[in-house]
Amino acid sequence: MKSKKKIMLAFGTRPEAIKMAPIYHCLKDNSNDFEVLVCVTAQHREMLDHALNTFDIKPDIDLNLMTPGQDLFDVSAGVLLGMRNVLNDHKPDILLVHGDTTTSLFSGIAGFYQNILVGHVEAGLRTHNLHAPFPEEFNRQALGRVVHWHFAPTKLSRENLLREGVDKNQIAITGNTVIDALYLVLERIELNPHKRHSIQDYLSEKLSFKWMSDKFILITGHRRENFGDGFLNICNAIKILAKRFPMIRFVYPVHMNPKVQVTVRDILGNLSNVHLIQPLDYEPFVYLLKYCYFVMTDSGGIQEEAPSLAKPVLVMRDLTERPEGVEFGTVKLVGANQDMIISNVAELLEDEGIYKSMSMAHNPYGDGKASNRIIDILKGA
Ligand code: UD1
Ligand code: UDP
Repeated sequence: MKSKKKIMLAFGTRPEAIKMAPIYHCLKDNSNDFEVLVCVTAQHREMLDHALNTFDIKPDIDLNLMTPGQDLFDVSAGVLLGMRNVLNDHKPDILLVHGDTTTSLFSGIAGFYQNILVGHVEAGLRTHNLHAPFPEEFNRQALGRVVHWHFAPTKLSRENLLREGVDKNQIAITGNTVIDALYLVLERIELNPHKRHSIQDYLSEKLSFKWMSDKFILITGHRRENFGDGFLNICNAIKILAKRFPMIRFVYPVHMNPKVQVTVRDILGNLSNVHLIQPLDYEPFVYLLKYCYFVMTDSGGIQEEAPSLAKPVLVMRDLTERPEGVEFGTVKLVGANQDMIISNVAELLEDEGIYKSMSMAHNPYGDGKASNRIIDILKGA
C-alpha cells in the first residue's frame, strides 16, 4: 500500500492562517494521500485564534510564542529554536510556509537546515526594496533561496522568481489562496441566513450607525515602516477628513500591536464619526468590506480582497508588491503622506466619475482554486 505523505503547515499570524486555511481543508479532503499536521508559532495570539476558529483548524502543535511588544529578535529566535524541536519530533516529508512574516522565514530556514522539502505559498511577490515593506521584502526574498517549491500567485510573481535565477521547474502559477478563502466565506454567508443575521447583529452592536445604508470608509493599518511619522500622518489625515466630511463614517478595526493602538487612539479617539473597534473576525470583516464605500489600508491581503468586491483601495504605502491591482486601476498608492491621503480620499468622495472608474470588480489574484493546484503538485511530488 502506498504510504501517505506527511505534510506540515507552519504559520503564526492572522493573514497566514486565513490564507493557509483553504490548503489545510484541501489536504484533509485528500486524506488517502496525505497526513496533515498544523504547527502554529502563535507569533500572533488572539488574531490568530480568531482565524483558526473561523476556519475550524485545531493545531497539533502550538509554540505559543507571542509576547506583548515583541521585537524581530524575539520572534526570529523563538521560531527557529521552536521549529528545530518540532521538526525533529515530527519529521514531516514536506513543510509548507506562507508569505513573508518572521514565522514564515524562520520556519522555512528550520526546514532547510533539516533537509526537509519546503513549499512557499504566495511566492515571488516583490517591491525590490528591502526597506518597504520592512522586514517582509527581505523575508520573502530570503525564503526564495531556501525553498523547493515556489507557489506563485500570478504571472508577474513567477517572472520575479525567474529573474532571480529560480529554476522554472520549481515554480507554479497557482493563484492566491486568499481568493479561495474569500469565496469560501462569501458562499458560507450567502447560503446561511442564520449566519448572515448573526454577523449583522454582531456588527450593529459594534457600530453605532446604520452601516448597511450609511456611507463609510473601512480603514486598516499596521506596517512597521509606517511607525512614527507615517502613522502620525495617516491618523492626522483621517482626523482632518473626518471633520471635513461629517456625514461620512470612518470605521477602523485597530490592529492589536500596541505601537498602532497608542497612536490611533490618541489622535482619533474622540471623533464622533470615527469608529475605532477591535480587530474583527474574518467573516464580519469580509461582510463589512462588501458594504463599505472604499478602503484605506497599508495591508497586503486587503489589496487582494477588496478589488474582487469592486471596492476601490487607497494604499497608504509608497510601494506595493501587488502591482496588478494598481495596473488595472482599482488600487492607488497614496503613501503615508498626509496631503496625498486627504486629496485622494476627497476625490473619491466628491468625484463620482473617479469613484466609478476605480470600483470595477477585478481579480487578478486567483479563481478560488489555488489550493487544489498546490495539492495536485504535492500529490505528484
Ligand atoms: C506581523 C508580520 C506582518 C504581517 C502582520 C499581520 C512580521 C515581521 N510581521 O506584524 O508581516 O503583515 O503580522 O497582521 O512577521 N498583538 C497582540 N495580539 C495579536 C497580535 C498581535 O497583542 O493577536 C500585539 C503584541 O503586542 C505583539 C505585537 O502586536 O507583540 C506585534 O506583533 P508582531 O507579529 O510582532 O507584528 P505585526 O505588526 O503584527
Ligand atoms: N482582516 C480581518 N479582520 C480585521 C482586519 C483584517 O480578518 O479586522 C483580514 C483581512 O481580510 C485580510 C487579512 O486579515 O485577509 C489581512 O491581515 P493584515 O492586514 O493584518 O496583514 P497583511 O495582509 O498586511 O499581512
